[in-house]
Amino acid sequence: MIKSIKIFAPATVANLSCGFDVLGCCLDNVGDEMNISLVSEPGVKITKIEGADLPLETHKNVAGVAVEALLKAYDKMVGVHIEIYKKIKAGSGIGSSAASSAGAVWAVNHLLDEPFTPHDLVSFAMEGEKLASGNAHADNVAPALLGGFTLVRSYDPLDVIKLHSPKDLVMTVIHPQIEVKTSDSRSVIKQNVALKKAIQQWGNVGGLVAGLFTENYDLIGRSLEDVIIEPLRSILIPEFKAVKEIAMAKGALGCGISGSGPSIFALSKGTETAKIVSEAIRSVYIKTGLDFDIHVSPINNQGIKLINP
Ligand code: HSE
Repeated sequence: MIKSIKIFAPATVANLSCGFDVLGCCLDNVGDEMNISLVSEPGVKITKIEGADLPLETHKNVAGVAVEALLKAYDKMVGVHIEIYKKIKAGSGIGSSAASSAGAVWAVNHLLDEPFTPHDLVSFAMEGEKLASGNAHADNVAPALLGGFTLVRSYDPLDVIKLHSPKDLVMTVIHPQIEVKTSDSRSVIKQNVALKKAIQQWGNVGGLVAGLFTENYDLIGRSLEDVIIEPLRSILIPEFKAVKEIAMAKGALGCGISGSGPSIFALSKGTETAKIVSEAIRSVYIKTGLDFDIHVSPINNQGIKLINP
């Protein structure tokens, strides 16, 4: 082994209601751990996966595919070993595949003394997302790599913008323990959008971005509305309507589907409100008999982090 690091690869909430495939944010206390090493024998190997039943073959593993994309661009013989300790469940809607892809490319770039920019890393990590869901969306890998809130202004050419992250925003996320594959959840979406709905949606995207930069919490709340995707996808999520109603009644700024679901997010101003919202959501979900996890997390403005040995 030449050198090795341990990292925290965070969970992320994509879409943020109005921003399907373009908006996302990074959580602080929910995520995977990974050990990434440079080794003398060239090639990429997934040497260990704990906490999930995922393929060890490099070309079938999102982290493996993402690192191979990076090394192709690096164009020098490099050996990489990857150990993944999954804490984010696959199909949870909080960026499980993104944490692995983004974490792996961030760590290899760090070990190689940073030949690539964070934006380059987004494009390598998107290869992992393509393998996971058949679609190279960047709204989970971008916030994992850049931290805070991010906007994918354009996919072609890729143009990712880091937004301002007001310090009082706190996420509550409930993860019902049912798996909803991103590919299945994407298949229920219609390919065409009525102009009237599109107008509402892009108004909200602009409102949310403006609200983040001006720290206008009311505007953030008003803009967390999804008139296009949520009505179609929410039927896949047990008690979505009841969770949203109670979260809003308890003071959340907004509530919606986290990524492709089944997780549901509620964004609040302040930890106290986020905890009240969390307890209220728990009281709804406990009645379903389903297993679930609830996380309350500040926004992580840094993204992937080194864990000191
Ligand atoms: N934007 C993607 C989707 C995110 O909603 O399908 C997947 O986590």
